[in-house]
Amino acid sequence: MDRGQLSAIMKEMGTARSRRDLLRVIGRAAIGGLGASLVARGLGDGSLSADITPAIAEEKPGTGQAYIRPNLHGLDPYGPELQAYADAVKAMQALPSTDPLSWAYQANIHATWFDPPPPEPAPPSPEPPGWTTCEHGSLYFWPWHRMYLYWFEQIIRAMSGFTDFALPYWDYTNPGQRVLPAPFRDPASPLFVAARDVDVNGGTPPGVNVPESVFNICNGLSQTAFPFAAGGLESTPHGSVHIWVAGGRQNPPSFGWMAAFTTAGRDPVFWLHHANIDRLWESWLNLGNLNPADSAWLDNDVNSGNGRPYAFFDVNGDPVTTQRVVHEVVDAATQLGYTYEALADLSGCPGFMIRPPREEAPAGTPAATPEPALEFGSSAPEGGVSVGPAPAEVPVDLARPDDAAAIARAGGATILTLEGIHGHGVPAVLVEVYVNLPAGQEPDFRSPYYVGNLNLFGLLQPDQEHQAMQSMTQQFDIARNVTALEAAGEWTGELQVSLVPYFTGEAAPLETTAATPAAAGATPAERIPDGPWVTVERIVMTSG
Ligand code: C2O
Repeated sequence: MDRGQLSAIMKEMGTARSRRDLLRVIGRAAIGGLGASLVARGLGDGSLSADITPAIAEEKPGTGQAYIRPNLHGLDPYGPELQAYADAVKAMQALPSTDPLSWAYQANIHATWFDPPPPEPAPPSPEPPGWTTCEHGSLYFWPWHRMYLYWFEQIIRAMSGFTDFALPYWDYTNPGQRVLPAPFRDPASPLFVAARDVDVNGGTPPGVNVPESVFNICNGLSQTAFPFAAGGLESTPHGSVHIWVAGGRQNPPSFGWMAAFTTAGRDPVFWLHHANIDRLWESWLNLGNLNPADSAWLDNDVNSGNGRPYAFFDVNGDPVTTQRVVHEVVDAATQLGYTYEALADLSGCPGFMIRPPREEAPAGTPAATPEPALEFGSSAPEGGVSVGPAPAEVPVDLARPDDAAAIARAGGATILTLEGIHGHGVPAVLVEVYVNLPAGQEPDFRSPYYVGNLNLFGLLQPDQEHQAMQSMTQQFDIARNVTALEAAGEWTGELQVSLVPYFTGEAAPLETTAATPAAAGATPAERIPDGPWVTVERIVMTSG
């Protein structure tokens, strides 16, 4: 199937959207005054534009203005905003790690850095309030990071004395905005961190070794069920950008700070990256999608993995009693008093938006999906699937492929699950997942074969201890792929899963010793790490 056929299918789906759905989306969009152009685009190519600035926002206390989180690249690199950020970071770095306002304490709220040992001494036991409470791979990923940023932003405002400060967001989906502003790359600035990818710190735009899918927002934003939207965007761009910014090399081993939970918060870029991820939550809601409505989600205030209560601190370093429970942070404008300069631009996502937004909270199972979930097929090769440096191809025989296609067509979910994903000490690895990629066809994330990227943030660790702890399961809703493949006559029941790896880190130094003569003629680009980079234990396809 070519792109033309695919877009014809998507066009039909776009026009099949119910009038009520469209009206609701238009109604929200009209708040931003761009309703008419949204309608035109929504009907034209099956995608929706969300490049809309919300008009509702709480006022800054006593000023008559709301905080507007600005686009990082719209700021003067040497202007007051980034100067304020640098000043605050510097002041926070000067405080002891036991002070909640210190740079170390704030980063330890994400995850405590005690391994590798310096610069911090062994952590106090028990750990201070709030440490190691970050939420990943759970339904609390978005709200927890929103709370974390909200309180951090106020501390930056106070520490810098720049009362207008609002966290800038880094919109790397725009190819022209991938190079960090100069102060982040200047070793003399508090915004600089050495433990980053060489090209990121060198001001070189991502090259051919960094696949465009790293920056892809379309898969996640096109999901209408909260778990798949949040999980999809947590994977890409969130996890992928962490890995890309971190960079690193295998030999001698080096891992950038952005690659691990324990160190990510020490990089000032982390916070701008997460402002963008928070902006994607706003963008997703602005499409007409809904957050979970159940009290288990809304009332949560403890880490879902380790049971530690969320704890954040105000500008005096005192623990806060508000904006630390999920239901207190679901509306950025009215509960937290900020909006974004612009929401995500979805003009690059034709063909991805196959379903209208949900009417109901995602707890409801789509009517077309039978209960309980059907297992269509699985594969668990002896010794697991090894990915990197070579791609892996995993055949999965499917029973009842027609049922899978019918579910996808009716708007239900068909799920591809990858279980037992492990890292093996190789940094800077990205893995794209495709289904039924035709032999000889270049992998392209815009094609109907692309499923998503593995979320390897936190999995690529230099030490065995962390790797043993970290085994991840990841799920993708492949309804979009199944529907497109079926329409093109390419859905046959022989599911072929391709795992396409990329190494975005630094080449190992050339070895010129007599013991390794073969290396002498190799170019640096060829000096990529030995495999396996990642292994996967089992792949299974089920209904939602
Ligand atoms: Cu809790 Cu991007 O990380």
